[in-house]
Amino acid sequence: MNLVDRKHTEIFWEQIGNYPRTTSIPRMTTAMFKFMLYLILFISATYIIYTLKLIKTSDSPCSINRHSVVKNSGVISANINVASSITKLEKTQLKHIVFGIAASSELWETRKNYIKLWWNKKAKMRGIVWLDKPVKTQPNEGLPPVRISGNTSHFSYKNKLGHRSAIRISRIVSETVRLKLGNVRWFVMGDDDTVFITDNLVRVLSKYDHNRFYYIGSSSESHIQNINFRYGMAYGGGGIAISYPLAVALEKMQDRCIQRYPTLYGSDDRLQACMAELGVPLTKELGFHQYDVYGNLFGLLSAHPVTPLVSLHHLDLVDPIFPETTRIEALKQFMLPTRVDSAGLLQQSICYDKSRNWTISVSWGFSVQVFKGIISPREVEKPSLTFLNWYRNANHTGFPFNTRPFNDQNAFKFYMTKVQLNSMKNQTVSVYEQHLSVCRWNPAAVDTVVVYKKPDPQLWDRSPRRNCCRVLKWKKKRMVVDVGVCKEDEISAV
Ligand SMILES: *[C@@H]1O[C@H](CO)[C@@H](O)[C@H](O)[C@H]1NC(C)=O
Ligand SMILES: *[C@@H]1O[C@H](CO)[C@@H](O)[C@H](O)[C@H]1NC(C)=O
Ligand SMILES: *[C@@H]1O[C@H](CO)[C@@H](O)[C@H](O)[C@H]1NC(C)=O
Ligand SMILES: *[C@@H]1O[C@H](CO)[C@@H](O)[C@H](O)[C@H]1NC(C)=O
Repeated sequence: MNLVDRKHTEIFWEQIGNYPRTTSIPRMTTAMFKFMLYLILFISATYIIYTLKLIKTSDSPCSINRHSVVKNSGVISANINVASSITKLEKTQLKHIVFGIAASSELWETRKNYIKLWWNKKAKMRGIVWLDKPVKTQPNEGLPPVRISGNTSHFSYKNKLGHRSAIRISRIVSETVRLKLGNVRWFVMGDDDTVFITDNLVRVLSKYDHNRFYYIGSSSESHIQNINFRYGMAYGGGGIAISYPLAVALEKMQDRCIQRYPTLYGSDDRLQACMAELGVPLTKELGFHQYDVYGNLFGLLSAHPVTPLVSLHHLDLVDPIFPETTRIEALKQFMLPTRVDSAGLLQQSICYDKSRNWTISVSWGFSVQVFKGIISPREVEKPSLTFLNWYRNANHTGFPFNTRPFNDQNAFKFYMTKVQLNSMKNQTVSVYEQHLSVCRWNPAAVDTVVVYKKPDPQLWDRSPRRNCCRVLKWKKKRMVVDVGVCKEDEISAV
């Protein structure tokens, strides 16, 4: 109303204001002038009244035309809203991801077993294994289709330490984009020795708008690697996720871009160089693991950051992740909890048995550690050094994260042996058995830890927080622990 009034007043004053400038004024008689003035006032008054009335009645059913126009445009915009909210509402799922797996014909027979661990044809996964040369394949092997990469012999490669296959592998993104598959939101690259926890990959990617440019992954566990390459580089083995429009933009320039960097070492640094030309930084997600380490991953796997576990890599180079078994068998065991509660895999919880003076750290689905004494959460959440640096003579200062010394004397390790879902109770039951190590201290002869935990598929829809654990009871050599969302005011107080 205010606006209308002011506008009208303006018009009114303009009209009056114009009046003295009309050249005919001097010739007007007083009567004529008076008549004109009254006429103007009359017209103006009518105009004001009419306007006010129109505004007032515009909502009433009488003003059919106006009303129906409003109604119509309301319907139209409502339709648009519904349509756009449907595309927005459909959360990113596995079907929206296309994998591009880098493999070599030479190592195919052994490496394909890593892919089999996570590839699930029934879940309608899409992806291609890109190879240098044809390999023998069987139709029902449970593996993605295989393709031969384009010839890259005309590209220049001038790094003395690396191998020119890096160019072929870097181009997997572009070659996968060129297949023009429909309804793709993300291209995810990995190596033939990368194991993805695909449910968690989806959880991480669904946080981001796939219609925008995103380059997602993580850096190395070796500080020196990150100095030599880049902290802002997604390491290829840990997995690299590129949103659809960014992959399309990359495809347009990647071949020329690769030619501009002939001295780089690998495929992922070539990709990062092109991302830098595109001006797209790394979005770092700590659940992607390059695992540039040697030795035993135990320390890293029992103190995972509070973020979904997305990938594991370099599994050929480290010890089998469960003791006394082969690498592949150990990984099969490792994947079991993903069927029951993938969001919770490796999530740590820390609690105390004050009466016995113990610290208990659960890495759900993988291990339980019992430490002698009360150790604060800020210590227990640091990975213990069961692993070696990529540069073997670099000591603990060579990691871009905090670590703590591993003391076999004070830690008692239990490894997950069984996991199942009690669907009646909506509760997972996982069993962890003692691994006889050199540990001389025996925590009151406990040989088995049973962990109860509700599946929590919505875990990562909330803000990150460690679960809480509680020692429920212990019966003979069996300790029972409950893991779940912390109750109000429940903390891991030392
Ligand atoms: C790739 O191209 C080069 C030259 O263009 C040719 O000599 C070579 O045989 C090709 N390699 C394959 C595997 O086709
Ligand atoms: C608990 O353990 C700590 C560290 O080992 C020790 O200093 C303390 O005396 C112990 N307390 C009890 C009650 O056993
Ligand atoms: C780690 O290495 C640095 C540099 O070589 C050295 O100064 C430091 O004392 C070493 N620390 C340990 C615990 O060996
Ligand atoms: C089980 O419990 C979790 C957490 O309370 C809940 O999110 C989930 O929907 C439940 N599942 C069933 C089958 O009741």
